[in-house]
Amino acid sequence: MKVRKAVIPAAGLGTRFLPATKAMPKEMLPIVDKPTIQFIVEEAKKSGIEDILIVTGKNKRSIEDHFDANPELEQDLEKTGKKELLKLTESITNLGVNLYFTRQPHPAGLGDAILRARSFVGDEPFAVMLGDDLMTDKVPLTKQLINRYDKTHASTIAVMPVPHEEVSKYGVIEPADEIEPGLINVKSFVEKPAVDKAPSDYAIIGRYLLTPEIFEILAHQKPGRGGEIQLTDAIDTMNKTQRVFAHVFKGERHDVGNKEGYLETSIEYGLTHPETKDELRNYIIKLGRELEKNSKQN
Ligand code: UTP
Repeated sequence: MKVRKAVIPAAGLGTRFLPATKAMPKEMLPIVDKPTIQFIVEEAKKSGIEDILIVTGKNKRSIEDHFDANPELEQDLEKTGKKELLKLTESITNLGVNLYFTRQPHPAGLGDAILRARSFVGDEPFAVMLGDDLMTDKVPLTKQLINRYDKTHASTIAVMPVPHEEVSKYGVIEPADEIEPGLINVKSFVEKPAVDKAPSDYAIIGRYLLTPEIFEILAHQKPGRGGEIQLTDAIDTMNKTQRVFAHVFKGERHDVGNKEGYLETSIEYGLTHPETKDELRNYIIKLGRELEKNSKQN
C-alpha cells in the first residue's frame, strides 16, 4: 500500500525553551524566518505525503493560523506592492498537502500523541515526523523510509550513530545484523538507556515509518520512562510479532529541540539565506577573531 499519510506530534510542552515557550509553541520558533514546523511539512510534501495530521495541544493555535490564509496581511501586501512577500505568504497556504489538526488533551507522552492519529491513519502505513529534528540529504529522510517500506512492507525507524556519552537522551536500538547496506535487523528498542547499559550508539532520530498495528499496541501501552506513554516501548513490542527495521541516515541532522542545536542551525541556515549570508559571514569571521584573541589573553 502506498504511504500517503504523516503524523506530526506537536503537543509537547517545550520546556527546554522556557520562557519562550510559555505561551508560544516551540514548533513556531523560527530558523531565521521560517518556523521549524514548516520545514517538516515541506519535507513531507517532498516525500510524496498527501495528508498530514498535526497533533497539537494548549497554546498551539498559532500553528494552525500559520498554515491558514491571512486576508488582512495579504491585502496590505498587495496594496503596498510587496509582491515577493505576498507570493511567499500565499505559498504557505498553498503547499499542496492537506493539513488536519487534532488535540492531545494532556502531554502524556509521544506514544499517546501518536495514538490520537488512529482514526486519521486507519489501516495504512504512515510516517511520524518529529519537529525537533531537521534533516538534509539529497533524498528527504521520510522518502528514504518510504522507499525502504515499498520493498520490505515493514516498519522502519531512522537511526544515526551518536557520541556514546549522549545515548541516554535517545531511544536506542540493539542491532542484530545488517541485512543490506544501511538496513539493520533490530533485536530490541530501548528508550533513554543509561550510558553504561546502552545496547549500541545507534540513536532513533525523529522519523518513523510505521504499520497501523502500532495503534493496538499503543492503546494498551503502560507508561514507561518519565511516566509517559513511550512510542519506543510500543515499537519494541511490535518488533516481537512483526519485523521492524532500522534505516541508517547518512545525511545531516540538526537537532533544534535544544538551545545549542537551535542556535547552530540558525547560524548555518543564516549563512545560506540570501538576505543574511554575506553580513552574517563577515560578522562571524570578526567575532571568531575576537574570541580567539580573548582566549589567547586568558
Ligand atoms: P520532546 O520531549 O522532545 O518535546 O518530544 P517536548 O516535550 O515538547 O520538549 P521538552 O523536552 O519539554 O523541551 C518529542 C516530540 O513529541 C511531541 C513533542 O511536541 C515533540 O515534537 N510530544 C511529546 C507530544 O506531542 N506529546 C507529548 O505528550 C510529548
